[in-house]
Amino acid sequence: DWIMGNYAEEAVAKIREQVGDEEVILGLSGGVDSSVAAALIHRAIGTRLTCVFVDNGLLRKNEREQVRETFEKNMGLRLVVVDAVDRFMNALAGVTDPEQKRKIIGREFVEVFQEEAAKITNAKWLAQGTIYPDVIESAGAKTKKAKTIKSHHNVGGLPETLHLKLLEPLRDLFKDEVRELGIELGLPAEMVYRHPFPGPGLGVRILGEVKREYADLLREADAIFIEELRNAGLYDKVSQAFVVFLPVKSVGVMGDGRTYEWVVSLRSVQTTDFMTAHWSHLPYELLGKVSNRIINEVRGINRVVYDVSGKPPATIEWE
Ligand code: XMP
Repeated sequence: DWIMGNYAEEAVAKIREQVGDEEVILGLSGGVDSSVAAALIHRAIGTRLTCVFVDNGLLRKNEREQVRETFEKNMGLRLVVVDAVDRFMNALAGVTDPEQKRKIIGREFVEVFQEEAAKITNAKWLAQGTIYPDVIESAGAKTKKAKTIKSHHNVGGLPETLHLKLLEPLRDLFKDEVRELGIELGLPAEMVYRHPFPGPGLGVRILGEVKREYADLLREADAIFIEELRNAGLYDKVSQAFVVFLPVKSVGVMGDGRTYEWVVSLRSVQTTDFMTAHWSHLPYELLGKVSNRIINEVRGINRVVYDVSGKPPATIEWE
């Protein structure tokens, strides 16, 4: 696309001019915005960009490997992967309140990122994948003191204590333009067109206390649901789809015996703005297949339900 091609060239020139010969760090979440920002800045300044990816134990199946593959292996980008799983799990142990969980996950991320940033002693710039709607939203929040129903924090919002200059090359772009730019820069379509994933990740899809065991089961179940949606050609037709782990056990039968295992819920919604949403009318055959596969393949789950609640009054996520 020639428009985004031009945009990329201009943006690259602007980044080079702004940054000069200084170094840049960026917190890469694997989401669209930070990924496109990373690819763009990497094109402009190569290895003078270092990206930090934090594995908090709440990522989707294979997410860490996919980020390594795309950015490190295929793009030659300088990437630091931090395994902070123990740290996040310890911080979350015993915590059941959703807002508390969000705050802990956000706080741990900032701390881990700061520790890594401190090691990159030459960095003068902090890059962020801020896009135009974020700019508007935070301006609105300042003037109107908007009440947030949930504290939505992305990987952004890092504190000023880092003493770095801000580099935000996507500030003028809408989401669909960011996606086009991502394709132009050679990012895989599956990454660029992936459903939104909340900053706290699986942390808000495991109801109540987060445990490693729950996260492992949820990752497997979620991957099956997404795979079957893709196979049915429906992934791009729904706005967001995922599995929720319910810390509830129910009775089942297997062979001659009884089982007493966990329950998960499938969630899939249609929406344009994520402020209101309808549940997706997925084909029964698909729901049946996903349920069978999860129960047969994920040892520890013996019941699958489907969430048929709209927003409002329900939210898209369960926490
Ligand atoms: P809800 O659940 O409020 O979600 O209907 C609306 C959209 O926002 C996403 N979401 C979050 N994103 N941090 C994020 O970055 C969060 O804490 C968070 N909570 C919800 C949700 O996935 C949906 O797309």
